[in-house]
Amino acid sequence: MPDLKGKVAVITGGAKGIGLACAQKLSDEGAMIVIADIDVDEGKKRAAELTTESLVMHLDVRDSSSANELASAVLKDFGRVDILVNNAGMNIGARNTVDVTDEEFDRVMSINVRGTFTTTRAFLPAMIEQRGGSIINMSSIVGQRGVALVAAYSASKFAIVGMTQSLASELAAHDITVNSVHPGIVATDLHVKVVQEFTGLKGMSFDEGWESFRDVIPLGRFQTTDDIGDMVAFLASSKARNITGSAFNVDGGLMLA
Ligand SMILES: NC(=O)c1ccc[n+]([C@@H]2O[C@H](COP(=O)([O-])OP(=O)(O)OC[C@H]3O[C@@H](n4cnc5c(N)ncnc54)[C@H](O)[C@@H]3O)[C@@H](O)[C@H]2O)c1
Repeated sequence: MPDLKGKVAVITGGAKGIGLACAQKLSDEGAMIVIADIDVDEGKKRAAELTTESLVMHLDVRDSSSANELASAVLKDFGRVDILVNNAGMNIGARNTVDVTDEEFDRVMSINVRGTFTTTRAFLPAMIEQRGGSIINMSSIVGQRGVALVAAYSASKFAIVGMTQSLASELAAHDITVNSVHPGIVATDLHVKVVQEFTGLKGMSFDEGWESFRDVIPLGRFQTTDDIGDMVAFLASSKARNITGSAFNVDGGLMLA
């Protein structure tokens, strides 16, 4: 029997990219899926391809009332929530720090950090009452090691590690696990934009820039959205029942480079 049959999984930013792959992998394991995204139309197209029951709901993680409404709607429709993947995120791109505005810094923090916090807070009462759950926070390899030109984004992804560890300690008594996943380089819309800006700053062509990223990955290949979805499905499964407060790099060894 699939490991996650009967479980309900909410994936923020699940309409495309890494979040969509998480939704697909969790669905393959039998979970009912809630895609919660600012882009409901895209989410609906994708949800039709999932093998288990699914719902697409509007969520703007910048707004805590949106997260509260989502939690109420999920509990009304499904009666429970077992897995929360806090994946919605953005990157302002590769920029010299002197060119980053206050507004851009606040935007990246409000989506990547405050959004993870407020969405988690909205679902916690149900998980605590159920006495169990799995929360998986999407950080980044730059949430483990800072690199040039992404200071604000990197700060937001390091914040996820502290939040994950603190929540894991607080929630262990309720049998709720909390872990973070740290993708390396995945060819999604988000990352293509970063490479475009990076190559612009370095005076390279897009293809040269893309290859220069590949060259520094010890395993010599980019990560795929499925690579990240597989890790998330593992952390949500019963096989990971004794893992909490941990950070998992899925980066082809980029952390070592
Ligand atoms: N692509 C990479 O190389 C990479 C590397 C490390 C970490 N990550 C992280 O993985 C996560 C997913 O990134 P991706 O590459 O799939 O990005 P993406 O841009 O392809 O997808 C992001 C999704 O989040 C949704 N979203 C954006 N703002 C939102 C908001 N305010 N409320 C709700 N949903 C919102 C978008 O509509 C979209 O569906 C992000 O947290 C990102 O920081 C990505």
